[in-house]
Amino acid sequence: MNILITGAGRGLGLELAAEALERGHYVLAGMREPQDKSEAMQALEAAFPGKLASVRLDVRDEDGIAELAASLKREGMQLGAIVNNAAVLKARDTGIEELDMKDVEHSFDINLYGPMRVVKHLLPLLLQPRASIVNISSEAGSLTHAYPGDYPYGITKAALNMFTEQLRSLLGAGGVQVLSVHPGWMRTDMGGESAPTDPRRSAAGILDLIERKAELHPKFHFVDYEGKEMPI
Ligand SMILES: NC(=O)c1ccc[n+]([C@@H]2O[C@H](COP(=O)([O-])OP(=O)(O)OC[C@H]3O[C@@H](n4cnc5c(N)ncnc54)[C@H](OP(=O)(O)O)[C@@H]3O)[C@@H](O)[C@H]2O)c1
Repeated sequence: MNILITGAGRGLGLELAAEALERGHYVLAGMREPQDKSEAMQALEAAFPGKLASVRLDVRDEDGIAELAASLKREGMQLGAIVNNAAVLKARDTGIEELDMKDVEHSFDINLYGPMRVVKHLLPLLLQPRASIVNISSEAGSLTHAYPGDYPYGITKAALNMFTEQLRSLLGAGGVQVLSVHPGWMRTDMGGESAPTDPRRSAAGILDLIERKAELHPKFHFVDYEGKEMPI
């Protein structure tokens, strides 16, 4: 299937691209600066010729996303999955009294409005009904497990979970799978070196969800990368 991934240049996005290619999928790797791609992404291109398209995709740039959608439509591209992976973690250890609201605005722009812009413009390309929209969320967005910190991040991920629910009510009856996925605490630039989860392992679990290999209870909307229910 054709899988579009945002923020595919590093971290979980890169591992999702690698795992999807290994499994024989065609990958549209969304990056802000595809001309400055990492060595790891160049190696993937060399290893999977004709199976990987690097596309310019800054989730803050709605015009750019609209242009990408139009050009993919002209090519007759249909998507089997959209993975909204790109995100930022700002103001990590900042208390509410010190919080700079610009960090909140920036986080909403990328973590929530980004996936909304992508779905707004790319939804018509989604091959229904076996298609998937995967919004990469976080346990930090669980209302049940709210903690006093990571304000911009947690709030944007909780809002992203709401967007998932709204898309489910729009598309679920047509068979499109819409999920919020907590990928685990992973060893990436965001998660740091002491994180326990290998992002490739998380990517493999997310691909199992997209391929509908994982057993998933139909009422689960917010799951971890193994398909286990996360508390909303
Ligand atoms: N790491 C964890 O432990 C953890 C835990 C829970 C959830 N998550 C979630 O998992 C996902 C991936 O996280 P990660 O750990 O891989 O993060 P990461 O290492 O910080 O990578 C973030 C990715 O997002 C991209 N990005 C940032 N702003 C963008 C924009 N405006 N447009 C397009 N792409 C943009 C970055 O691209 P550039 O290279 O251009 O900056 C990069 O590819 C995120 O949704 C994150 O919230 C991560």
